[in-house]
Amino acid sequence: MPAPVAAHKTALSVGEVAKRCDIPVSTLHFYESRGLIKSWRNNSNHRRYSRHVLRRIAVIKVAQRTGIALTDIKQALSVLPEDGAPSAAQWQAMSQQWQTLLDKKIADLTLLQQQLDSCIGCGCLSLQDCPLRNPGDYLAAASSADAAE
Ligand code: FES
Repeated sequence: MPAPVAAHKTALSVGEVAKRCDIPVSTLHFYESRGLIKSWRNNSNHRRYSRHVLRRIAVIKVAQRTGIALTDIKQALSVLPEDGAPSAAQWQAMSQQWQTLLDKKIADLTLLQQQLDSCIGCGCLSLQDCPLRNPGDYLAAASSADAAE
């Protein structure tokens, strides 16, 4: 990727980005391999990053901490300009979108916790009766569908 002209003077090395973001260099390479961030090569063939990558990585880290999948993070970041950090309004839009995902995860985990409570001390793991083995009683739904055919 060619370097943005304005980015040359303030470009950061991979070590500088890793240090400022408090992440290993390998994580930077991983983010880059997944298309979450981009760099370019200088004349010495060293990776260089625009300063906006710091905010972009902050968004990635916050999203990862809340359990958002990298594919969802990438999708959200893909609508942003590549040569700039997310603005406050863009971050607000992303976080609202992820709030819905988090609400669903919390509901799913709460249900799982309740189901696990009913299994403690049981150990049957019955395909018929155990809510962990048969979540949502999918076997009953499947047999109802078979009967309707
Ligand atoms: S282990 Fe028996 S109901 Fe889940």
